Amino acid sequence: MTAKLIKGTELRDKILEEIEAEVNEIKEKHGVVPGLVTILAGEDPASISYVTAKIKTAHKLGFNEIQDTQPADLSEEALLEIVEKYNKDDSINGILVQLPLPKHIDDKKILNAIDPDKDVDGFHPVNVGRLMIGGDAIKFPPCTPAGIQEMIVRSGVETSGAEVVVVGRSNIVGKPIANLMLQKGPGANSTVTIVHTRTKDLAAHCKRADILIVAAGVPGLVKPEWIKPGACVIDVGVNRIGEKISEKTGKKIAILSGDVDFDAAKEIAGYITPVPGGVGPMTITMLMKNTLKSLKFKLGIA
Ligand code: GUN
Repeated sequence: MTAKLIKGTELRDKILEEIEAEVNEIKEKHGVVPGLVTILAGEDPASISYVTAKIKTAHKLGFNEIQDTQPADLSEEALLEIVEKYNKDDSINGILVQLPLPKHIDDKKILNAIDPDKDVDGFHPVNVGRLMIGGDAIKFPPCTPAGIQEMIVRSGVETSGAEVVVVGRSNIVGKPIANLMLQKGPGANSTVTIVHTRTKDLAAHCKRADILIVAAGVPGLVKPEWIKPGACVIDVGVNRIGEKISEKTGKKIAILSGDVDFDAAKEIAGYITPVPGGVGPMTITMLMKNTLKSLKFKLGIA
């Protein structure tokens, strides 16, 4: 069997179109647009490229967008003051502090300082709690897990009663996607298992999965024989395994690989996400959706 490819790039384009239409409608009716600020401290090249992509997308959608770039030696107090400034700014609906932060800054302290109602990353403890409670309590699901759920649902994969196995227990992907799939309601109602580095028989758990979500950060961790025939395989891994010269730009770019042996897995799975072009593009998309949602909550139309 050859799996159906779940293309994040195609889904992204469709969802961004939906968001843009809503932005235009709100602008016409209420005279406001969503406002997003990204705060970047330092010059980590990967972070610069993520933040640039986020701001570019926000701009294209007609958002009010601010890229606030700060030096790497910025003090923790100064960063807290910047966060507080945007907490108070009425034109800003979403605040994103790009991680990782420089080592001398306590990222928990910074994330906890963001107004939970502007926390479009969904990393504040209040939003983590809302996610655990589920249903209407969820305001801002974290972007990568929300994107994964959209990919599964929009591909028409049955989630109710499905065995979902999540490989990885991070706060950004593993734990929140497990929570989302566990919720009562459409696109969820799954039976969820989280497996991790201390799990005794990783293969046995993966083999049971109707939906296998892999976010371990280990290239090629999941072997084709671990995949149940017809399963939906979501590969969240983005591992840099080398460099090449881009045919488009002539510049050096990273060679990326997922956590799943894609070429072999696609012959067994029913659905599979590629790397790159799978989960990656969905993360920025869901950030835009959360920022729009934040404005809608404020206007009382969410
Ligand atoms: N760094 C890598 N991914 C993310 C993300 O989703 N949000 C933030 N704030 N920082 C990141």
